[in-house]
Amino acid sequence: MVKQRKADHIDISLNENVNADYNYWDDIRFYHKALPEIDVSEIETSIELFGKKLSAPIIISAITGGYDKAEFINHNLAVAAGRIGVGLGIGSQRAAIEKPALAHTYEVIKGKNVPLVIGNIGAPQLIPQEGKKAFGVEECRSAMEMVDADILAIHMNYLQEIVQPEGDLKARGCLNAIRKVAAELPVLAKETGAGISREMAEVLRDAGVKGIDVGGLGGTSFSAVEYYRARKGGEESLERLGKTFWNWGIPTPVSLSLADVGLPLVATGGIRNGLDVARSVSLGANSAGMAKRLLEAATRSADSVEKELRLIVEELKGAMFLTGCVNIRDLRNVCPIITGPMAPWMDAARLRHGSVRILNGHS
Ligand SMILES: Cc1cc2nc3c(=O)[nH]c(=O)nc-3n(C[C@H](O)[C@H](O)[C@H](O)COP(=O)(O)O)c2cc1C
Repeated sequence: MVKQRKADHIDISLNENVNADYNYWDDIRFYHKALPEIDVSEIETSIELFGKKLSAPIIISAITGGYDKAEFINHNLAVAAGRIGVGLGIGSQRAAIEKPALAHTYEVIKGKNVPLVIGNIGAPQLIPQEGKKAFGVEECRSAMEMVDADILAIHMNYLQEIVQPEGDLKARGCLNAIRKVAAELPVLAKETGAGISREMAEVLRDAGVKGIDVGGLGGTSFSAVEYYRARKGGEESLERLGKTFWNWGIPTPVSLSLADVGLPLVATGGIRNGLDVARSVSLGANSAGMAKRLLEAATRSADSVEKELRLIVEELKGAMFLTGCVNIRDLRNVCPIITGPMAPWMDAARLRHGSVRILNGHS
């Protein structure tokens, strides 16, 4: 069943429109610098994240694992990530923890010189669900060892869980379970499309996580993905839920500003190109994360993924040049302009919390 679900997720993401209706990155604009007074050749995009050096603030976000085609996709992503020098997250490793014979579909990313490898386990799996045992620190450790991970993403996907037929609907005790894992292993708390609020970021920081992937609204909607699965399976009520919650969540740029509680931040959700990467850095991201944008290339070859990543880095450099930034530190100090539907979200965040990064000293 897990195998079929993973295959469905890939097929649906490739063949249907699973995007949220609005991509909020379009509302983040830069003032153009007509005379940049730097040379493109001077621009340096490298960063350090979780103690590892990346050639650019880019992470390939968790996508897949646990069935045959996933091995090919993961191989292509890892080869390209190693060649370019960006981070790589693997898809949920639950399948291989439950059935070790599937481990090879994840292990394939090992030995490819990927500078930062991120393992992946779902938060719902850390507590007992209907008829299922909970994963503990040992299962999490095995997941990390399986792929030589530098850090473990614990993904929060309760939006998806309410729409999928086999959803895990228990959430009580999850935070404590994350706290236990984070006391033993380096953890990246990761949302998968609905974003992280200020309160949630504070709670996660206090639980001991090492970083937050805000995984906000604006890109792949898992409610949409599950809508198509429900429609295919004739699950009328889940189909309806999928449609209703298609655009649920906190937009990624807002979440980025809200989640700035002193931990490294990854901005995933709707990142399409190097300009979006630049936008996310100017809003405080230590790195951008992207899944859907790279998926199609990953189903072709490692060369296709590499080509796509090189273009994204060129776009990032273009944005840095036109804002006069020689390095990523400069880019973090650029003051973007917030326009469109994004503006009231940012105003609401400021009213509620007072100290939202983007508005701090920038307005
Ligand atoms: C086909 C597919 C499968 C995914 N599987 C996982 C997963 O197993 N674990 C996880 O943490 N996120 C998973 N994600 C979520 C992504 O890592 C990312 O957070 C989300 O797609 C938003 O980024 P995007 O707009 O660039 O696609 C998946 C995304 C896609 C498209």
